[in-house]
Amino acid sequence: MTTLPATALADIAKQLTSGGRGILAADESITTMSSRLEQEGVPASATTRRDYRELLLTADGLSATISGIILCDETFGQDLADGRPFPVAARELGILPGIKVDTGTTPLPGQNGALITEGLDRLGARLASYADRGAAFGKWRAVFDVHTITPYAARANGQALARYAALCHQHGIVPIVEPEVLCTGDHDLAGSANATALALSSLFEALIDAGVDLTGIVLKPNFVTPGLDAAPVAPTEVAAATFAVLRDQVPAEVAGIAFLSGGHPTADVCEFLSALTAIDERPWPVTFSFGRALVSSALHTWGGAPAEVTAAQQVLLENCHTASHATDQAQ
Ligand code: 13P
Repeated sequence: MTTLPATALADIAKQLTSGGRGILAADESITTMSSRLEQEGVPASATTRRDYRELLLTADGLSATISGIILCDETFGQDLADGRPFPVAARELGILPGIKVDTGTTPLPGQNGALITEGLDRLGARLASYADRGAAFGKWRAVFDVHTITPYAARANGQALARYAALCHQHGIVPIVEPEVLCTGDHDLAGSANATALALSSLFEALIDAGVDLTGIVLKPNFVTPGLDAAPVAPTEVAAATFAVLRDQVPAEVAGIAFLSGGHPTADVCEFLSALTAIDERPWPVTFSFGRALVSSALHTWGGAPAEVTAAQQVLLENCHTASHATDQAQ
């Protein structure tokens, strides 16, 4: 078992979330990645998924704005065209490799459609293997909908996240804990705030009960926003609502907070982050761990054409630069 002192885990968590850099989420499941490729006219295969992830990771100078990259199991075990395994190449490029270890969601019986995230079986052995192959951090995502979240679903997911986080620490891996409240729908700001508060309060109760050292975790939450089908509010209102929930629910020891983008446009999430960064009394560093907001336009530009690789990488780098600019570069 790879054990690391608590201070080393805290250093990695800080490295992931500070210095104006953020985390690139490139860990879509095989099914999700295949459908995104097909939507852009790219035939889906292990090779095209690999080519696309190589394009992202090898964008020239990516490490100026990206501290870590989250990979799925398939990519983690693949090699770049030059023969280097992805986690090895990431480290050589100055980017910490991470691994998504949950195995997806299933409905919780009797909970009106609320979901539970699975993947705890044999997780210790899987983490040991990922640690041996160079993983610096992990990710586990719980998913909640404003209309179906229940206290039981929040507790069940919080306990799964806490067991995952404790196991990560046992294997020298920094856990990203992600309790995502979806932004799909027409709910208002208060609906998102209430659901996010419930998800976070259950999560931190479970993490504390499980004895997880909060200085060695990264929290990956959603911004508190109205649903994508509801009237939008100003970024300053999103930032104030998000901060109010986080201030009440997230202990100050948490190493850092890295937001997901959730389907919001790139410009919007960068404005939310920038407005949140401007709130002085924040006790934790805040940054981004966006997927779609960084990569969707790059995937579109590439479209599977070798001649467009450099242009697609440029689009990715510009999105990362905009997101980095929205963080507190001095934190
Ligand atoms: P999005 O930023 O596209 O929501 O993805 C982030 C992520 O890692 C979801 O688990």
